[in-house]
Amino acid sequence: MFNAAIKAVDVVLNVSLSRRTVLCSIRHYCKKSSKKLRVSEALEGSDVGSNITVEGWVRSVRSQKDHLFVHVNDGSCLQPLQIVASSELNDALLTFGSAVEVTGCLKQSPSRKQPVELLADQINVVGGCDTLEFPFKIKERHGLDYVRQYPHMRCRTNVFSSMMRIRSAASAAIHSHFTERGFIQIHTPVITSNDCEGAGELFQVEPSGQTTEPDKNFFSVPAFLTVSGQLHLEVMSGAFSRVYTFGPTFRAENSQSRRHLAEFYMVEAELAFTQSLEDLTKVMEDLFRSVTEQVLDRCSEDVDLFHQRVSPGHRAVVEAMLKESFTVISYTEAIDILNRSSHNFVFPTTWGCDLQTEHEKFLVKHCGNLPVFVTDYPYDLKPFYARDNLDHPLHTAAAVDLLVPGVGELCGGSLREDRLDLLTARLAQAGMEDTYDWYLDLRRFGSAPHGGFGMGFERYLQCILGVDNIKDVIPFPRFSHSCQL
Ligand code: 4AD
Ligand code: MG
Repeated sequence: MFNAAIKAVDVVLNVSLSRRTVLCSIRHYCKKSSKKLRVSEALEGSDVGSNITVEGWVRSVRSQKDHLFVHVNDGSCLQPLQIVASSELNDALLTFGSAVEVTGCLKQSPSRKQPVELLADQINVVGGCDTLEFPFKIKERHGLDYVRQYPHMRCRTNVFSSMMRIRSAASAAIHSHFTERGFIQIHTPVITSNDCEGAGELFQVEPSGQTTEPDKNFFSVPAFLTVSGQLHLEVMSGAFSRVYTFGPTFRAENSQSRRHLAEFYMVEAELAFTQSLEDLTKVMEDLFRSVTEQVLDRCSEDVDLFHQRVSPGHRAVVEAMLKESFTVISYTEAIDILNRSSHNFVFPTTWGCDLQTEHEKFLVKHCGNLPVFVTDYPYDLKPFYARDNLDHPLHTAAAVDLLVPGVGELCGGSLREDRLDLLTARLAQAGMEDTYDWYLDLRRFGSAPHGGFGMGFERYLQCILGVDNIKDVIPFPRFSHSCQL
């Protein structure tokens, strides 16, 4: 069929090595004018019969006696568009990895493998690709560990390109989730003079080449990259009862773990007139469910790639998380469960200890491999802002973490200490009452009981996709001893 369509062949070679156009006129029944389409639009099929142009990168080239089959992907979806051309159009520059512009007639494909294909009469190699030097090889399935070594190239692989589309869709879903529920988005600052978590994991910010002597600080005070937008959200929650922020967060954690980054994205929400942890856990669960449902719906092919190839069996875990309601246990119950288990933990557990990843993962398994909220942590484990439960003899704070399969801690939140006397006392104890005078003001002028939480965006992606290493779910990972690009 294709052969018969070719009447006159016209090959035009451009002299430039990096840019070459190969033309072939094919008689077909397309309209003359050409319309530029993304690959995803072409695959939808509504332009069958039209002359179209697509631009993208070659994922494979197969040359047969008369025909050339080229797969082109432009990142708009997982599937490539199959280009069928006369072998006359074959060219040394038309290789795996090269950037091309293809024009031809969009047809229904005779094969079941793809709905449509493009009968090309022009293939323009916009940028050649040295396949010997190119880190990825045609037809090879490279593992995530290998792909991670090429942060500037890994977007060319199917798996990473799917990840980036999912990440983008999840980000959009988070914004629409909050917008639909009447939350106001606040752009909290990246540079700040406070240490919200008080954990000393701050990166200091100064102009390069300047000293960090206190009286010579650029901002006149020591300034840092934010570890959390919470305190700024708390300011705003004094006027807007529902606020959220979603942005980069920085922690100088000297950790090479599979769930820590020095720069990660955090979604944080703050709700005024909130008096119970239950109100917060409802918001956290609702966020997890609605964003996950949207991602599964909008990126089904990309998500399937992870659930089939990267983490087989993970689909069932995700479906169970969506079907079952999340468990709630107190920290005290959690310690009890851990103490009663016969598991040999590296870090022994006693009431008052922080939960380690091994404990969190155990608790998730114990609760049926489903998300579990752990509430009411020891008061001394939580930052100054956490609300004192004023309970005796244990002394806990109204704080909650959400633990999820495969990851452990996904969210951390709390009710905030809204009682001026208690907050003043706690800040004074830490010698911070002057620095946080403005924070005390929030309790002086129309204070309302409030609370909020933060969800690590990368950990969320790890959880729904079953990705073991956090470095594989962020475009450009930053961690100790590594800041590539
Ligand atoms: O539990 P965290 O430290 O809570 C806060 O920062 C609160 N101020 C949030 C709030 O109430 N508004 O951090 C929240 C979440 C963690 O549960 C975890 O998922 C993620 O942020 N996270 C990290 N993700 C990647 N790399 C790191 N180094 C992370 N540290 C925390
Ligand atoms: Mg935490």
